[in-house]
Amino acid sequence: MQASTEFNQLARLDKVKQLASKAFLAGLPKAELHLHLDGSLSPQLMFDLANKNSVALPYQSVEEIEAAYQFSDLQSFLDLYYQGAGVLQTEQDFYDLTWDYCLHCKADNILHTELSFDPQTHTQRGISFDTVIGGTLRALKDSEQQFGLSYKLMLNFLRHLSADSAAETLESALLWKEKITSIGLDSSELGHPPSKFTDVFAKAKAEGFKIVAHAGEEGPPDYIWQAINLLKVDRIDHGIRADEDPKLMEYLAQHQIPLTVCPLSNVRLCVYEDMQQHNIFKMLGQNIRVTVNSDDPTYFGGYLNDNFFALADAFPMTQLQAIQLAHNSFTASFISYPQKQFFLQKLISYVEQFNAKEK
Ligand code: ADE
Ligand code: ZN
Repeated sequence: MQASTEFNQLARLDKVKQLASKAFLAGLPKAELHLHLDGSLSPQLMFDLANKNSVALPYQSVEEIEAAYQFSDLQSFLDLYYQGAGVLQTEQDFYDLTWDYCLHCKADNILHTELSFDPQTHTQRGISFDTVIGGTLRALKDSEQQFGLSYKLMLNFLRHLSADSAAETLESALLWKEKITSIGLDSSELGHPPSKFTDVFAKAKAEGFKIVAHAGEEGPPDYIWQAINLLKVDRIDHGIRADEDPKLMEYLAQHQIPLTVCPLSNVRLCVYEDMQQHNIFKMLGQNIRVTVNSDDPTYFGGYLNDNFFALADAFPMTQLQAIQLAHNSFTASFISYPQKQFFLQKLISYVEQFNAKEK
């Protein structure tokens, strides 16, 4: 039987109308589609690598690094994030960083991850593209072998840099084409609209890459329209400001364009005053394909399960809503149809077994 038929049967059961417990959320099989590798650098690893590589940081201890993580907006975060990424120097450093994140995938029951890397952050300071992607892929392969983690890699262009720099980065990516699934766009959103990158994304699409862009995180709904109409995106990172434009909401629902939403990130970067103001359940209720993600977990106070827990603390989240979010995470991914069916089956079995135990 196809997973979609079983899912519909599951959705009719009374048990899934109850509130999702933390135990239920923790074990839920899920995919993560919006994770910046440099945003999973823990303060401890940052401190250790700074010492190992003799990189000066303006902090004397791990505690001082943690205390510095108070942000007022996206740019105030990015300034620290790029400074932190400066401690990464060798292929082994990128391996260690990626391996650390993969262990969190295992702990959070993430069966599939689509991990983003920003090569320009590193090539601009003299670290080679091959060093970055080599260490990252080696750790991903090890986690696939050792605990079955499924993965895809996304390369992001930094939008505060020029379109020419993005085009140069795309040339390097073409040498690793078989290993990179998608091309995205991140960094400072305001003042750097998707239209700045129309030509380079047209080239990326022609080369067969999937297309993603951060849009509507801090930027207006028009940036989301530009990502759709000019960049021809397959998926949008964030997209939360779509709810200021009813026509856009309708379009996203009708075309099922996925939004990879990052609840803790949005609160930590002051898009919302608190989690209760978040619009993820409003969008889910309007049939928009939203997913939950951690964005930059070591900077924003939590990995993927922490994001689910924060939502459950702020909203009366039912099992069915949590299942829909996990379901969306697989259907919005760039894996093949049979792989999606395989993971959705695991999700269904998990819910059945969990509820059979909880009499
Ligand atoms: N790079 C890392 N995290 C980001 C975010 N939340 N928005 C834009 N660029 C980023
Ligand atoms: Zn992001």
